[in-house]
Amino acid sequence: MGKMRERVTYNLLDEEILKRKPSERFNYKFVEPPLLAYLVTTVDKYGNVNVTPTSSGSFLGEGPKGEGGAIYFSVAYKTTPQGRSREDRWTGMETSPRDAVYNLDEVPECVINYCSLSASLVEKMRIAALPIPKGISEMDIAGFTPLKSRMVTPPGIAECPVNMEAKVVHSKKLHGWKIYFLEIIGVHVDVELDERDKVNGHMAYLDADPLIKLHLENDSVFEIDEEHPYGDESKLKRCFYTTVDRSKQYAQEPYDIGPMRRWIGTFEIWMQDELNKGKITRQEFDEILELKENWLKNPEPVLNGSVKNELTDRIKKIIWSRK
Ligand SMILES: Cc1cc2nc3c(=O)[nH]c(=O)nc-3n(C[C@H](O)[C@H](O)[C@H](O)COP(=O)(O)O)c2cc1C
Repeated sequence: MGKMRERVTYNLLDEEILKRKPSERFNYKFVEPPLLAYLVTTVDKYGNVNVTPTSSGSFLGEGPKGEGGAIYFSVAYKTTPQGRSREDRWTGMETSPRDAVYNLDEVPECVINYCSLSASLVEKMRIAALPIPKGISEMDIAGFTPLKSRMVTPPGIAECPVNMEAKVVHSKKLHGWKIYFLEIIGVHVDVELDERDKVNGHMAYLDADPLIKLHLENDSVFEIDEEHPYGDESKLKRCFYTTVDRSKQYAQEPYDIGPMRRWIGTFEIWMQDELNKGKITRQEFDEILELKENWLKNPEPVLNGSVKNELTDRIKKIIWSRK
């Protein structure tokens, strides 16, 4: 293991941090990693189409629901006027959220359109992110081709390799943000990509050069002060993008750690596989499972500390003794 490094600690509840100039506050980019960038299409109650470039939100997980399984996703939108001028305020709301927020509240459906890296797409992304008046379609303005949806009202975007039709199942207001939990109920996949997936080792969307948002140059968040409520307006602010570089060799999880039959499995399956590999004996297998039972009956780290330590040591030994 590497040497412990010294570190700087930011207590984000400390009022002293809030008093600092924005440029000297904690850089939120230590928390926000490079994120997938995609386009979310919505409609208002009149049927006006809206396209919102989005990256705050992701696939949440796939799980059992009925026969087919359910796939959940989240998206989050700003509900503060930051970055928009007062004139952009839409009447009836105290602040200026994204149009997507009004639309998702009015018609709780959307299409999530995944994007491949290309200059023209990045250009259209930029256009769709402009403060185009609510109800005016970025689809028309940026020149996207609508793709008819089957299960929801908003159309998808035909230029995008994967389009997911989704329904809002839950939403929650946070300070300055609103987060929507979505259930994906239908997916359209570019037929060439779908064919490649079958012969190319199931790379799915990875094979379409997923568009990844890197950072925003001269991010105004760090420059806002009373005289410059929208940051330093003499500096250009544009987003940088990348994709997964598939010319580099992948780093892969080692085969010799963990179960062989499953990626994660259960503790029992994992230990059974270690037994099959010859890494532990039958007696050790029985002892480890007994230790696990004894630990789970009383997971109290002081009173049951010896069981905890013994189980920890046994697991560590399995993982780190490579034979
Ligand atoms: C790549 C990219 C990702 C973005 N992600 C988000 C996001 O996740 N949430 C958000 O509120 N705004 C995000 N934005 C900004 C909005 O897309 C932008 O404010 C847009 O004008 C909102 O559109 P709307 O008002 O039509 O919904 C993003 C912009 C870009 C270019």
